[in-house]
Amino acid sequence: MKSIIYRRYGGPEVLELADVPDPKLAQNSVLIRVKAAALNPADLALQAGLGASIMDAWFPVIPGWDVAGIVERVGAGVTEFTAGDEVIGFVREEILHHGTYAERISVPSSMLVRKPRNATWAQGSGLPLAGLTAYQAIVHTLKLTRGETVLIHGSSGGVGSLAAQISVTCGARVIGSGSASSHNYLRSIAVEPVLYGDHLVRDVRAIIPEGVDAILDCVGRGVLALNPQLGRAGYRSCSIADSAAGVTTVFARMNQADLLRLVELVEAGSLTVAVAATYPLEDAARAQLALRDGGKKPGKIVLEVG
Ligand SMILES: NC(=O)c1ccc[n+]([C@@H]2O[C@H](COP(=O)([O-])OP(=O)(O)OC[C@H]3O[C@@H](n4cnc5c(N)ncnc54)[C@H](OP(=O)(O)O)[C@@H]3O)[C@@H](O)[C@H]2O)c1
Repeated sequence: MKSIIYRRYGGPEVLELADVPDPKLAQNSVLIRVKAAALNPADLALQAGLGASIMDAWFPVIPGWDVAGIVERVGAGVTEFTAGDEVIGFVREEILHHGTYAERISVPSSMLVRKPRNATWAQGSGLPLAGLTAYQAIVHTLKLTRGETVLIHGSSGGVGSLAAQISVTCGARVIGSGSASSHNYLRSIAVEPVLYGDHLVRDVRAIIPEGVDAILDCVGRGVLALNPQLGRAGYRSCSIADSAAGVTTVFARMNQADLLRLVELVEAGSLTVAVAATYPLEDAARAQLALRDGGKKPGKIVLEVG
């Protein structure tokens, strides 16, 4: 099968299109014909070797953790899926080897759920990692409730745009930062936009002088240092991109119940995955450059496969 591989750590330039053997189908696993694979900043970080102290890479590595595709065959023991099912998944294993930038992948069935009926393949592939991160931050960690106000740093990004919509479903008011070009999109998902940078505190305080109830950092870059100027007394804060005293750092976990809840929100029309751009599989390096260099439209960059 065709796949994208890298044989050594590095940037987008180490990616190659290669023919590799089809994956084997283990017990309790599902063989998927990949239709789309969303990119994540983690792909770039791991490829650069930044995870080498906690995760082995078995070269050549096929990158990618997000998938949407069609079940071709199921392994012994699988009862919940059958050939022809349309599925999505967060395929995160503890070694880097068999990723989703490929025509086929064999995935433990516990990492999959059905694809939302009203989502395109690209949107479906953009939901698992970013959606789980957003959901676990907003619902499980911040425990946002009706009538509260949340500030989301990076609300135009893959995670932030989903976190903003999930916050709205919780009944919260959402203030979100993003570049000027993202502000029309942010308004369309009921976010009150502010620019990141020097005037962020002033602009947030102009919207809500008493400060916000909760702060989600989807950016890093030291924005957590602004928390005391942005939160009201007793505010809660978490980050997906940084750590600081008194702030919970959230790491996305595969959880079928959470991912199914996200599928339901998409099917109910309460959550839409924004797709910033799509690229064919062979243009994976170009797609990674677009993610790394920023300036993309809001949402996810996705590889379309087959
Ligand atoms: N802990 C976890 O489990 C987990 C999971 C997923 C992601 N992450 C991390 O979370 C971060 C966001 O991921 P993502 O997939 O949402 O990335 P993304 O789609 O690239 O979004 C990045 C966001 O940051 C904003 N931004 C860019 N430059 C900025 C600046 N100088 N100041 C403030 N904001 C700026 C962007 O705004 P514009 O595009 O409008 O400029 C955009 O909203 C990454 O660091 C990623 O590694 C962690």
